[in-house]
Amino acid sequence: MKSIRKIRIRKVKKDDWKYFKIWWKHPALDDLSGDTNPKHSTDKWLFGSFMRMINDSKRLDYIVLNEKGIIIGHFNLILYKNYVQFDIKIGEEKYRNKGYGTLMTKKAIQIVFKKLKYKKLVLDVKVTNLRAIRVYEKCGFKIIRKTKDGKLYRMVIIT
Ligand SMILES: CC(C)(COP(=O)(O)OP(=O)(O)OC[C@H]1O[C@@H](n2cnc3c(N)ncnc32)[C@H](O)[C@@H]1OP(=O)(O)O)[C@@H](O)C(=O)NCCC(=O)NCCS
Repeated sequence: MKSIRKIRIRKVKKDDWKYFKIWWKHPALDDLSGDTNPKHSTDKWLFGSFMRMINDSKRLDYIVLNEKGIIIGHFNLILYKNYVQFDIKIGEEKYRNKGYGTLMTKKAIQIVFKKLKYKKLVLDVKVTNLRAIRVYEKCGFKIIRKTKDGKLYRMVIIT
């Protein structure tokens, strides 16, 4: 029998550093930053980034738990004047491709349009990240352009 996927979210707190420390130390191939500076993978540097992230009033960062209460990843929303930018990562590889990313994206969309009352949600994704693109298209995002270097798509939902 196919198991029923469910997610629960809560805001990221300082204690969650232990998860981010692992997820950020093993950046996925789909990481958009392209940052290869070795200094930027030290615990000290990463912890500084983590603290800036959780103290940034323009961001909403969520930890995601599955139906068993296991922490599987996170997503964030960066709030601009007229739009919100979305990013997502299932940090634990074994939980990818099981439907959670779709549920997380739908949850983010609900927060942005129903709760925060924004009218535009955007994201950037590597053109090679076919799984992520599939998830975003399933959830209603449309590709609007490619970056000049051809590496990223900008995707958007406007209500
Ligand atoms: C991208 C990510 C959030 C997607 O979440 P997920 O839980 O793995 O995805 P889901 O299981 O909900 O859905 C995957 C969909 O892509 C499809 N898919 C999987 N691999 C694919 C591929 N290589 N090409 C096309 N589609 C693919 C699946 O069949 C499924 O579609 P379906 O429901 O129509 O069958 C997750 O894999 C992840 O965190 N990856 C690493 C970080 C990342 O890439 N973040 C995105 C940055 S923009």
